[in-house]
Amino acid sequence: MKILITGGAGFIGSHVVRQFVNNYPNYHIFNLDKLTYAGNLENLKDIENKPNYTFIKADITNETFINNLFEKHQFERVIHLAAESHVDRSILHPLAFVNTNVIGTIILLNAFKNTWEDNFKNKLFYHISTDEVYGALGQTGLFKETTAYHPNSPYSASKASSDHFVRAYGETYGIPYVITNCSNNYGPNQFPEKLIPLFINNIINNKPLPVYGDGNYTRDWLYVKDHAVAIDLVFHKGKNLETYNIGGFNEWKNINLVTLLCQQMDKKLNREKGASEKLITYVKDRPGHDLRYAIDASKINKELGWKPSVTFEQGLDKTIDWYLENEVWLKSVTSGDYQSYYDRQYS
Ligand code: NAD
Ligand code: TYD
Repeated sequence: MKILITGGAGFIGSHVVRQFVNNYPNYHIFNLDKLTYAGNLENLKDIENKPNYTFIKADITNETFINNLFEKHQFERVIHLAAESHVDRSILHPLAFVNTNVIGTIILLNAFKNTWEDNFKNKLFYHISTDEVYGALGQTGLFKETTAYHPNSPYSASKASSDHFVRAYGETYGIPYVITNCSNNYGPNQFPEKLIPLFINNIINNKPLPVYGDGNYTRDWLYVKDHAVAIDLVFHKGKNLETYNIGGFNEWKNINLVTLLCQQMDKKLNREKGASEKLITYVKDRPGHDLRYAIDASKINKELGWKPSVTFEQGLDKTIDWYLENEVWLKSVTSGDYQSYYDRQYS
């Protein structure tokens, strides 16, 4: 089976590519990635020479290239992760999110449709999405697969739009698809613009930890390797034309999470108790900041038997260890353009 994985050099994508390349020697995995600031082939060093793996540097918005590529390789299945993925950047540059997340997805859908429209049997377009499409929860309740879409940021609006197009292509052209909407991921290889790796990097460098607003915003955190396993399961056993929510059963208020992270970092770095917490700095809130995300993952749990394999404390421990052991990776991704983004975002 020829599988196209888009965005495979990014954070979640690299774990998905590894999961498939290592576990399915009979599949050929084509990883297509533009290598934006968030994509990094260092993430895949351990599998880059495997016979069932090919990397293609390309932009999903390059329609001619994508059409020719599908014609050449006839990908039977697509796992689509390529996206602009950071909310704060979407507030600075919304159009980049429309281009990649909406237009790019439609270009892939078209290429897939045109390749297989006479025979969709055993074909699949698997779209990876986010819980942020559902908008913000109050203090109670959970996002279900049936929750109405109510995106509040340019990022979540672009992801919601791409989800709608995938469903529309299913209804209109009959393409077989599945969509998963996952909660916040954390773990090795995450670019240090998102909360956990940004704060780990700042603690290492004794820099302020910029907590937005009052810190009472809540997210549901999932270890990235558990997400990759869930994607594997949905890819093989998920029902055609269905949506599955994936979550960590693991809600944390930002300030409580940051406090736990500080405590674990103090131990790892042999710093005195409370040293990292002194770096916590409350800063101006994110515009349109969603109060709370929390997933009801009972459908994937009941139908496919999936549940997270690690607790948050275990996952955070592994994550911190990875960043401490991979300081070269961390230094290389925080050189160059990173500093200008950081200054603009946090000045
Ligand atoms: P990421 O930003 O780490 O990686 C995105 C990858 O896509 C990068 O390798 C980048 O080079 C590539 N890319 C970007 N634009 C491209 C283009 N035009 N053409 C080809 N490649 C391009 O993102 P991530 O956190 O790994 O997220 C992956 C997917 O999972 C996204 O679709 C995101 O919406 C979704 N998701 C993320 C989370 C999370 O917590 N990170 C949670 C739920 C869903
Ligand atoms: P983030 O990792 O950007 O994920 P998302 O916005 O997709 O949930 O942010 C997680 C939470 O942490 C969110 O409530 C915003 C907050 N946050 C901060 O308080 N400070 C920061 O510097 C960042 C990046 C995020």
